[in-house]
Amino acid sequence: MGVIIKNVNQVLFNNELELCQIRMSNGVITEIGKNVKQAHDDKIIDGKGHVISPGFIDVHVHLREPGGEAKESIATGTNAAAKGGYTTICSMPNTNPVPDNHQTLDWLYERIQKTAKINVLPYASITKGLKGEELSNMKELKDAGAFAFTDDGVGIQTADQMLQAMEIVASLDLAVVAHCEDNSLIHSGVMHEGLTSERMHLKGIPSVCESVQIARDVLLAEATGCHYHVCHVSTKESVRVIRDAKRAGIRVTAEVTPHHLLLDESDITEANSNYKMNPPLRAKEDQQALLAGLLDGTIDFIATDHAPHTEEEKARGMNDAPFGIVGLETAFSLLYTHLVKNKIVTLKQLLDWLSVKPAQVFGMEVGSLKVGAKADLTLLDITKEWCIDKDTFLSKGRNTPFDKWEVTGKPVLTIVAGEIVFEEDYYV
Ligand code: DOR
Ligand code: ZN
Repeated sequence: MGVIIKNVNQVLFNNELELCQIRMSNGVITEIGKNVKQAHDDKIIDGKGHVISPGFIDVHVHLREPGGEAKESIATGTNAAAKGGYTTICSMPNTNPVPDNHQTLDWLYERIQKTAKINVLPYASITKGLKGEELSNMKELKDAGAFAFTDDGVGIQTADQMLQAMEIVASLDLAVVAHCEDNSLIHSGVMHEGLTSERMHLKGIPSVCESVQIARDVLLAEATGCHYHVCHVSTKESVRVIRDAKRAGIRVTAEVTPHHLLLDESDITEANSNYKMNPPLRAKEDQQALLAGLLDGTIDFIATDHAPHTEEEKARGMNDAPFGIVGLETAFSLLYTHLVKNKIVTLKQLLDWLSVKPAQVFGMEVGSLKVGAKADLTLLDITKEWCIDKDTFLSKGRNTPFDKWEVTGKPVLTIVAGEIVFEEDYYV
């Protein structure tokens, strides 16, 4: 038995829409066309003229399991992801225990197998326990299925350690995915060092805290030939360094978050910890540079850095609350509303940044809409107007600065390997 989704609009390379039907069988797309062949027992789904996209991919998600289940679990995080239109996500290793050995990674894969709604590819850590002291056994971790290596949440502090890590990771043909932050420049900051930190008398994190480490690392990537991917780029200097490195032929790629694209420090009108994330919201010029970087290909794609925390933790105020905001259930709608509807980018560009590009950058076998590809699909109602309400999130996290924002566009149906994993209530 196959599944046919009829009456859906494909977004062509020139951004034009084309009505089509897609047939899937055994988890794979078997036909795309005006009128696909139908077997007598095929299940038919009416796509109601909505836009069909390869399922979204988010390479930067904190699922918190093991050890942080009060904030999120593999089950709740992947349910939230499915609702946001995601079919593949990569889970960050700042959990307890840290996946820095094959036993923990084996355990994680078992939990994913049992409880995940969508595909989850776990990262392993660069250093044991994310402590920045000893390197993890990366060969063992690759054999156990590590997607790539990262110490997300903290930067790698010495050039020597990054050099050693890149040499090993290059030999394994995987990527170093870097959270860039020089500890000697954090200055106990809780937000960007700029106009708002001054006005609020809060400690600031200077832009160089990030860019200095990227500048070091692109040279190490050049020396080792390692694929070096920069997490959540936030400053204009970082964009410039990455742009120059790409021009020099260095194997560097980068991501940006929806919040860094849509907000800047001036949006923080009160000391509200739902605006507290790391890296912080920077200045207007930084936000503009991030968008320019995405448009000219310096930044390759968008990732959410979905970082759920409990309401109790976030209620501790700007100085004491943990860094991080959730993003999986709002990313598409926010970006569609503010970038596509406002004609800053095309729908085709946005869908590429949410699915095609991350797959290309990491050589994943998903992220394309063609015969023979995995049937991971997202159906988008681009006319739906709705209001973000954090209390309807499937994530355990409620920590978003976008609560009560009016948006247009909603993922209404998410399909993984030909099976429906999420269906919007009003759509059914
Ligand atoms: O805002 C953040 N939250 N940035 C990070 O680097 C870590 C993350 C978390 O784990 O909460
Ligand atoms: Zn992160």
